[in-house]
Amino acid sequence: MKRILFVDDDSSVLEGLERMLYHLRKEWHMVFASGGQAALDIMSKEPFDLVVSDMRMPGMDGATLLTEVMNRYPDTVRFVFSGQTDKETLMRSVGPTHQYITKPCEAKTLKASVDRAFALRDSIQSEAVKQLASQVGSLPPLPDLFAKLMDELRAPDPSIAAIGKIIQADVAMTAKILQLVNSAFFGLRQNVGSAAQAVTLLGLDTVKSLVLMGGVFAQVDERKLPAGFSLDILWRHSMKVGTYARAICTLEGASKETANDAFTAGLLHDVGILVLAAGRSQIYEKLAKNAAEHQLDVYQVEQTAFGCSHAEIGAYLLGIWGLPDSIVEAVAFHHCPGLCPAEGFTSLTAVHVANALARDIPAPDTGQSSEYLDKTYLVLLGFDGHVQAWQEACSALQTEKEPES
Ligand SMILES: [Fe+2]
Ligand SMILES: [Fe+2]
Repeated sequence: MKRILFVDDDSSVLEGLERMLYHLRKEWHMVFASGGQAALDIMSKEPFDLVVSDMRMPGMDGATLLTEVMNRYPDTVRFVFSGQTDKETLMRSVGPTHQYITKPCEAKTLKASVDRAFALRDSIQSEAVKQLASQVGSLPPLPDLFAKLMDELRAPDPSIAAIGKIIQADVAMTAKILQLVNSAFFGLRQNVGSAAQAVTLLGLDTVKSLVLMGGVFAQVDERKLPAGFSLDILWRHSMKVGTYARAICTLEGASKETANDAFTAGLLHDVGILVLAAGRSQIYEKLAKNAAEHQLDVYQVEQTAFGCSHAEIGAYLLGIWGLPDSIVEAVAFHHCPGLCPAEGFTSLTAVHVANALARDIPAPDTGQSSEYLDKTYLVLLGFDGHVQAWQEACSALQTEKEPES
């Protein structure tokens, strides 16, 4: 039985929740706390799988509580439950949170979000994933520069100049980011000369994601990688999937938030490959050869060898870094989106399609959708008729033919 703690200073909200969720009492063990301190006291006596907290509370507010929960109980899932409309400002102040639930909400909505969060945990916190994570030695830390940016962004009034300065202080990263934003991927007409200018032109979210991706790649010790492994190919592939995924979201009229999540998840979707290639280099070399010789997909060969693939190990890492569920989920299920219980078009849909299309655009001569697309998933979602438009939009972004990972 899943153990869930609800925290709100308003007793009528708690009573309402208790009544609304009464029918779920056989599935969930639910406890209700009237404030941050009360919640921490309860948690010190019994473990919880999920904490759902209000934001504005007297005494200890939700942000402080959830940060405390993250530090003390990193495995506990953290949901923000708030009536605040200005979600973006709120999310900035909150720090690492897995999901945001707007109140009031219906039991059905809450149940779907909780089920989805637990399905993700079941996938990325399986024994196989944990075992593999322990075998790769130490997992890469959250890139320094990204952590510094997040700190600045949590300030009440983050300025572009300050963000620019923080990035600029890292000379290697600035060079990499400028190279990227001036590449064909962004199709900018003017040459971007500074980090601050990149933020102004592309937006903070885009630059933030690029900093994260750049940091992840910069941390890799190339000497540990198997012979013949090309970091450059993976880099280009990741960039392509990020930009394709965002283009697909735009085409579908998805929210800015979904598009940003899809972009970030696209950039990071194969981060597990880096973890495995650097951490289990000898096995990985054999495995990649085997996949190439037998024309198998790398993730399937990984699955056979390790009991899980780069998708789950990558998502596991991003989960540890505290990235939101929407990104972790898109990475975890990018090869098998049908395993995710989410309904409708999500950033996962975009990343799955982008990854498939990034492998075969321009399609040899058929213009058909890729064999890597999960067609059953797309049919169930009702999006199978959109593939051609997606393919055309991504083709339009493609300015050069690049080798694939
Ligand atoms: Fe992949
Ligand atoms: Fe990929």
